[in-house]
Amino acid sequence: MAISRILVVGSGGREHALAWRLARDAHAPHVIVTPGNDGMARTFERLDVSETDAAGIVRAAREHAVELVVVGPESALAAGVSDALVEAGIPCFGASRAAARLESSKWFAKEVMREAGVPTARAFAWATEAEAFAALETLGAPHVVKADGLAAGKGVLVTSDLAEARAFAADCLSGSRFGAQGRVVIEEFLRGEEASVIALCDGEHFLLLPPARDHKRAFDGDAGPNTGGMGAVAPAPVVTREIERVTAERVVAPMLRTMAARGTPYVGALYCGLMVRSTHAHSTEAGSLGPVAVVEFNARFGDPETQAMLPLVVGDFSAALAAAAQGRLAPDALSRGSGGAVTIALVDEGYPVSTFGTGTIEGLDALEGRGDLFVFHAGTRRDGDTWRVKGGRAAYVTATGENAATARERAYAACATLRGAHWRMRSDIGAGPGVPAATQHGMGGQ
Ligand code: AMP
Ligand code: GLY
Repeated sequence: MAISRILVVGSGGREHALAWRLARDAHAPHVIVTPGNDGMARTFERLDVSETDAAGIVRAAREHAVELVVVGPESALAAGVSDALVEAGIPCFGASRAAARLESSKWFAKEVMREAGVPTARAFAWATEAEAFAALETLGAPHVVKADGLAAGKGVLVTSDLAEARAFAADCLSGSRFGAQGRVVIEEFLRGEEASVIALCDGEHFLLLPPARDHKRAFDGDAGPNTGGMGAVAPAPVVTREIERVTAERVVAPMLRTMAARGTPYVGALYCGLMVRSTHAHSTEAGSLGPVAVVEFNARFGDPETQAMLPLVVGDFSAALAAAAQGRLAPDALSRGSGGAVTIALVDEGYPVSTFGTGTIEGLDALEGRGDLFVFHAGTRRDGDTWRVKGGRAAYVTATGENAATARERAYAACATLRGAHWRMRSDIGAGPGVPAATQHGMGGQ
């Protein structure tokens, strides 16, 4: 059944990409966004209901006669937006609050993984400093210390410095850093290459979107602090068909079975943050986990992975999400285009440490209208002909190509035409194992 009216909840680059991809379906559905952003408002009807206002979103969905709501951000899931929509009988693609705990509690995710037999690092939750410090000594360096609850992407420390690990664990327990959480998670360090695999799930069936690799560190060469993501490449070279098969069989399928058996079926995008381990590592480590281990789950589409994955998705995307929302997703509902895509985040100069909010980006609009180049907005504000940077990740430039290397060349060539001030980007997104280096381009007007 063709879906003709859709509401997308959220305001970031991920939601812009979702709205864009939904509107591209052959029957050109009408896409409404809330609260959206200035960039999205040029193309889509925009409402001003907050993403965490569950009752307001139900009302808006009814008023605007939408047949499907797609929920982007975790904050909306945690606010019970999906639960409220389902209760009101409105099809919703997005995890219930209970299922979204896979993202909001590291320890809950570990418990479900243990029950489901999903490969992941051994982890321990401790309520006292003495126990946590002893665990750090036992597991040895590098140390991995995690705050249990949501911590705005800053709740994980990986370090070889025992004193730093102890201090972080103590802060998690005292509540001085992330508020009182009562316990800290300490886990075994996993070696390998990271990749993001996102499954569209209907509670029982699923299909995998093209795998992606996110670049989380702020600066070139994976230096600097962690961010929400500075760019992504799809497909991720490390995720071979065999790795996908293992992920489907050993991660996604058992997670869906276990979540359903617990009475909290998983409907929505299940983001599997994976460590793909070299043959050498997984054959020699004690208690071999196999070629794939889960680092984390998120209960939503990745940002910025979505901006790189969706241009490669072929088929009726809105019908697939609606089918998933109604428990009847066919595993072959979508297919994959050949080639690759790269997305580059344009960020506030101070990101992620502080917000300058003084940036301007010029030339973005001139990149639009080509079949192989897409601009997705997030933290921008329209000011005449200029896009102002409100803060954080402002916008994304995505390019597609016959392979990831061509996409990368094209994306950086496009970014090199941009002007303005007080914004920056990484110049090595998509480089690395499996992707030949692109020609170096200037950073353009910074
Ligand atoms: P998370 O928020 O759990 O994804 O952790 C943030 C980042 O920390 C991940 O993307 C990894 O780079 C790193 N990390 C987390 N857990 C581990 C682990 N057990 N072994 C190695 N690196 C890890
Ligand atoms: N790119 C990582 C995330 O969406 O959490």
